[in-house]
Amino acid sequence: MNRSLFLVFLLVTFTGGLFFSGCATHNAAMTFDEEVAVSSPPAALEGFNAIVVYDSWSGNTCQIAEEIAAGLNCPAMAVDDAADLAAGEYDLIVVGSPVHGGMPTGKIENFMEQAAPAAFSAVFVTYGAPLFGTLTANRCLNSMEKKLGGQCLGRFKCNGFHKIFRTYPRHPDETDKSEAARFAAGLLERMGDYATTQGFTD
Ligand SMILES: Cc1cc2nc3c(=O)[nH]c(=O)nc-3n(C[C@H](O)[C@H](O)[C@H](O)COP(=O)(O)O)c2cc1C
Repeated sequence: MNRSLFLVFLLVTFTGGLFFSGCATHNAAMTFDEEVAVSSPPAALEGFNAIVVYDSWSGNTCQIAEEIAAGLNCPAMAVDDAADLAAGEYDLIVVGSPVHGGMPTGKIENFMEQAAPAAFSAVFVTYGAPLFGTLTANRCLNSMEKKLGGQCLGRFKCNGFHKIFRTYPRHPDETDKSEAARFAAGLLERMGDYATTQGFTD
């Protein structure tokens, strides 16, 4: 094998290794607003009015939306059905999107531009690009958090099967979903403090 062929072989092996090792890892991650106190929620959350609004082209983000909504005991609404949603009337609005080119989908962008801010918000994405995917997911979450307004309590991201790159097959998987449920519980814990000081309206 001559020298340049060997270098090409090394490069392909290294890039391929990185690509597939990146796809094998579990990347569900969440962060919360550290300024908000954590309290034990359920009893205080009567009348708590929350909604999850999401877009999903191939079902991944929808699965996470449903998991978070179940944890919050509130509806999950496809963005197509949310044109007339009075977002400002909710105590908490959680918005989710697949990452498309480092941004949320156009429908989610439009929704966030038009929606009046709820008192509290949270954002989540599913993403599927190998290697640089986490960067694009963070960029997307930053822009969503900024656009949505209200006090953003937390953000969540996990992998979702990428139809073009064929990465992260079977994601979101059971671990991703249980992390999403844990995220919802974390949001509730942070709403509990608000409930004891402000109360909720039915
Ligand atoms: C048009 C298009 C653009 C995408 N762009 C990105 C991207 O910039 N970064 C990324 O990590 N994943 C990207 N993905 C992958 C999706 O974000 C990922 O597979 C997601 O889980 C799909 O969610 P859905 O099934 O709810 O549509 C892209 C997918 C499509 C179809």
